[in-house]
Amino acid sequence: MTVRETGHARAASLEFHGVTKRYGRGESAHGAVNDLSFAVPAGAICVLVGPSGCGKTTSLKMVNRLIEPTEGQILLDGVNVMTENVTALRRRIGYVIQQVGLLPHLTVGRNVAIVPSLMGWSKQRQSARTDELLSLVGLDPERYRGRYPVQLSGGERQRVGVARALAADPPLMLMDEPFAAVDPIVRERLQDEFLRLQHELAKTILFVTHDIDEAIKMGDLIAVMEAGGRLAQFGSPDSVLAHPASDFVAQFVGEDRGLKRLSLVTIADLSLEPSAARPGLPTFGPGTKLRDALSVLLAADTSGGVALDDAGKPRGFVTVDAIASALAEGRGTVANP
Ligand SMILES: Nc1ncnc2c1ncn2[C@@H]1O[C@H](COP(=O)(O)OP(=O)(O)OP(=O)(O)O)[C@@H](O)[C@H]1O
Ligand SMILES: [Mg+2]
Repeated sequence: MTVRETGHARAASLEFHGVTKRYGRGESAHGAVNDLSFAVPAGAICVLVGPSGCGKTTSLKMVNRLIEPTEGQILLDGVNVMTENVTALRRRIGYVIQQVGLLPHLTVGRNVAIVPSLMGWSKQRQSARTDELLSLVGLDPERYRGRYPVQLSGGERQRVGVARALAADPPLMLMDEPFAAVDPIVRERLQDEFLRLQHELAKTILFVTHDIDEAIKMGDLIAVMEAGGRLAQFGSPDSVLAHPASDFVAQFVGEDRGLKRLSLVTIADLSLEPSAARPGLPTFGPGTKLRDALSVLLAADTSGGVALDDAGKPRGFVTVDAIASALAEGRGTVANP
């Protein structure tokens, strides 16, 4: 059975409307999350990013009702999650927690099949789905399905965690620092694999990290949160880098935000001086990232190259200066999806 045949195309929209979570009463009351509002279209990855204690995990847990909001509403496909049967709701939401949380006494195969078995799938369907998902996350089912979590590396455990969250083909995935427990090289590989997977699955994903670089890489949208559980900015990674809404956001995204944008903005986003074909100079397709164009220009030791349009015709002349000034002016901002 291929992934396509399992009907995974379902993805849900997710909306926060004035969501607040307060702990304690009276004098000692404090807000973990404060009047949070944003909307994630079906099939998009939204990353909640911000410093420790700003309310990211609390926001995530209010979606699957591990925590109940004090005020406001969370809508999954337009339906207030508080009005749904909590068990049915959780089965529709894949959840990857930090430290993965695999059950140590169950094999990898049984860990992945937890939700399908709770849903009463036949043994045959469960094992077919398990093998399919293990392959999908890059683990050979023959080798891994019978192992116990303790017999896996950190990166392999993370992959099993992702497979388990995908098992019942949920329209929404909640991922709380899913790649935080592994070293930077493994993390980067898991991020790349996950983005490739998402390209095919097109789930709606709410993803938590405290790492702005991970947020920029993974998010179609990012919600920057600050102390007190407040939303500091919401938008595409590029719009947040190009136009930080406050000093807090500017500081949080870092002084090198111009450089970060290099890997987001493409040649197609630049307005350029028209150019004819110039034999001998490098050419760039419209999807070329500015970072890649810049390294080609610097390596070729040339003052410029030719940007091509979709049809492969010369569209304009790209120079190092044009790239630098586009970044400085915050031009080429990609609209929100
Ligand atoms: N059960 C609780 N009772 C009181 N306060 C709580 C409770 N749970 C969380 N908090 C507080 O709510 C705030 C938000 O916590 P939360 O776990 O959502 O932060 P976070 O952004 O996920 O942080 P981290 O990056 O460290 O995981 C924190 O100040 C925390 O101390
Ligand atoms: Mg947290």
